[in-house]
Amino acid sequence: MASSPLLQLFFGVGPLLLAILDSARGSNTTTPLVIWHGMGDSCCNPLSMGAIKKMVEEEVPGVYVLSLKIGETIIQDTENSFFMNVNAQVAFVCDQLAKDPKLKGGYNAMGFSQGGQFLRAVAQRCPSPPMKILISIGGSTKECMVSLAVQERARPSVTGSASISTLRPTPISCRIILVQAQYWHDPLNEELYRTHSLFLADINQERGVNASYKKNLQSLNKFVMVKFLQDHIVDPVDTEWFGFLKPGQAKETETLQESALYTEDRLGLAEMDKAGKLVFLASDGDHLQFTKEWFNAKLLPYLR
Ligand SMILES: *[C@@H]1O[C@H](CO)[C@@H](O)[C@H](O)[C@H]1NC(C)=O
Ligand SMILES: *[C@@H]1O[C@H](CO)[C@@H](O)[C@H](O)[C@H]1NC(C)=O
Repeated sequence: MASSPLLQLFFGVGPLLLAILDSARGSNTTTPLVIWHGMGDSCCNPLSMGAIKKMVEEEVPGVYVLSLKIGETIIQDTENSFFMNVNAQVAFVCDQLAKDPKLKGGYNAMGFSQGGQFLRAVAQRCPSPPMKILISIGGSTKECMVSLAVQERARPSVTGSASISTLRPTPISCRIILVQAQYWHDPLNEELYRTHSLFLADINQERGVNASYKKNLQSLNKFVMVKFLQDHIVDPVDTEWFGFLKPGQAKETETLQESALYTEDRLGLAEMDKAGKLVFLASDGDHLQFTKEWFNAKLLPYLR
């Protein structure tokens, strides 16, 4: 039986209609979000990254959220956050992002604690696909990450409507690390310290200036840094806003704007600051502890 003209019309025009609808949908999709967890955490813990992912998906309908898993399994992912060479972790992630068709048009990135630091390396080293907005939550920018690397179990604790548990991390001071680094004897920690500080010196342009690092970082639309006002894990807490100890001593701190990194603008942060691309946010609370209300009010606007 021959199909009716009406059906023929439908089959003729249908695909076109669908294509138009699809492209309309495509032009109205939200920017994907890539999340990198902290030390001792994993991609998919329902109490931490899983909860964050769900929260964002609820608030930003249709958003694609990729919570990074470094390795094949969740156990590997957690172990790698302690022990895997950081450069290799960054390369692993760059590869994963480049292969993901959903990220082709670019993505926003949100890193927790060391995850924020590592995502900045991704922004600086891997411009494709392009990162649009980088949000570093409680991420230290300097050597005190070494202490985190050894001591921290960095899981966010969201209070309020979503209650998220947290392990009690051991506080350890960057000032102490700085003074005692030469007496650092535990072989595992020493290894971690060395690779971590080489990594940081590289991405902070302390071993020479890589022009592409600067150019790539500057192509961000925004670089949002969240500092926790009662953070007892990261000391000095100023490093969450790219500040640090003044050179040559372990007492006084300086802000990013006072630092040589800024005045010499090795990383392009001064230019970004002047262009209004740097956002400094503070949250009341200890390391990675914030309320859902705070998250929604302060961070969600960057993800819509
Ligand atoms: C996408 O579509 C929704 C619903 O029609 C609309 O409210 C929203 O503003 C659109 N977003 C963009 C980015 O165009
Ligand atoms: C700059 O960094 C990129 C990305 O990591 C690297 O491929 C390149 O070799 C570096 N250039 C210099 C001069 O170190």
